[in-house]
Formats: sequence, structure tokens, C-alpha cells
Amino acid sequence: MICRRVMSVFVYCILSVWNNGIYAQEQALGLLPEVQKTIPVQEGKSHYAMCLGCHSPGYNRTGPKHCGVFGRLAGSQEGYQYSEALITSLLRWNRHTLDLFLEAPTKIVPGTSMTFAGISDAGVRAQLIDYLATLAPGHKDCE
Ligand code: HEC
Repeated sequence: MICRRVMSVFVYCILSVWNNGIYAQEQALGLLPEVQKTIPVQEGKSHYAMCLGCHSPGYNRTGPKHCGVFGRLAGSQEGYQYSEALITSLLRWNRHTLDLFLEAPTKIVPGTSMTFAGISDAGVRAQLIDYLATLAPGHKDCE
């Protein structure tokens, strides 16, 4: 019985070393990062359904469009009437500021006109941000 246990632990060890080898190989070939990138982005796009009531990637609606939002100064999308609060926040949208804003918009920007309660799940916010980060000119969702 004990012998069996020892054997299965041994096999498990061998297998995990082998798997790690494959993992390292895939990483070296640059295969894994692609896979790791696309899954959260797809998830993020499905979470974006929460935003579609007011936003669209490609054009301004109740809320400003999101193409090119990543790296941009808050409240700087041309042709959109922002609240004074967002303009004067002087935030620049990066992972950290987007995470804070999406968690509780009115907490980080008191007086913002984004009347959205926020998303408490950090994982969902991270995937949404992964998707937002891909929205640059040339992305098919931006057309
Ligand atoms: C009820 C409508 C509504 C919903 C739902 C909503 N937003 Fe907004 N959003 C707005 C409005 C309005 C603004 C402009 C805020 C201001 O001027 O203070 C805004 C602004 C923003 C900005 C700042 C953009 C910039 O150009 O500075 C980001 C980022 C943003 N929203 C992300 C999201 C995301 C992601 C979701 C979905 C999880 C979402 N919003 C859901 C209405 C909404």
C-alpha cells in the first residue's frame, strides 16, 4: 500500500517535471503568452456587455467611445461632453486607474456622470481591462 503511494507520488513528480518542461518550451517559443492573452481578452469582451448600455468601442453614446482609451488622459476624447469632475481628475487611464474607476467610479472620481455602480470582482475587472487595452485604431470593434 505504502509502496503504491510512493509510486504514485513518484509518477506525479516525473509528470509535473515533464509538463513544466513543455511549459518552458512553449514559453520559449512564445506560444503560451498568445494563448494566455487571448483567453482573458475574449472573457473581457463578454463582460463588456455590461458597458454596452452606454458605451461602444467605436463611437460616443451616453458614454464616450473606448477605442484608444488606454493610455489616454481621462476626459480627453474629442467630441464628447465630459463632466467637470472627470476632466479635472487628471487621471491617465492605465491598468491601475481603470481598475479603481471600474470598481467604484464615484469613489475615485466624485461627481462623475458615469452612473454605474461598479464591479466588485477583481478578476472580471482585470479581464475587462485586458479587452479595453486591445481597443486601438485598426481593431475590428473600433470600426
Ligand atoms: C449608465 C451608463 C454607463 C455604463 C453602464 C458604463 N458607463 Fe462608462 N461612462 C459613462 C459616462 C456618462 C461617462 C462619462 C463620465 C464623465 O464625464 O464623468 C463614462 C466614462 C467612462 C470612462 C472614461 C473614458 C474617458 O474617455 O475618459 C471609462 C474608462 C468607462 N466609462 C468605462 C466603462 C466600462 C468599462 C463600463 C462597463 C463595465 C462602463 N463604463 C459602463 C456611462 C456609463
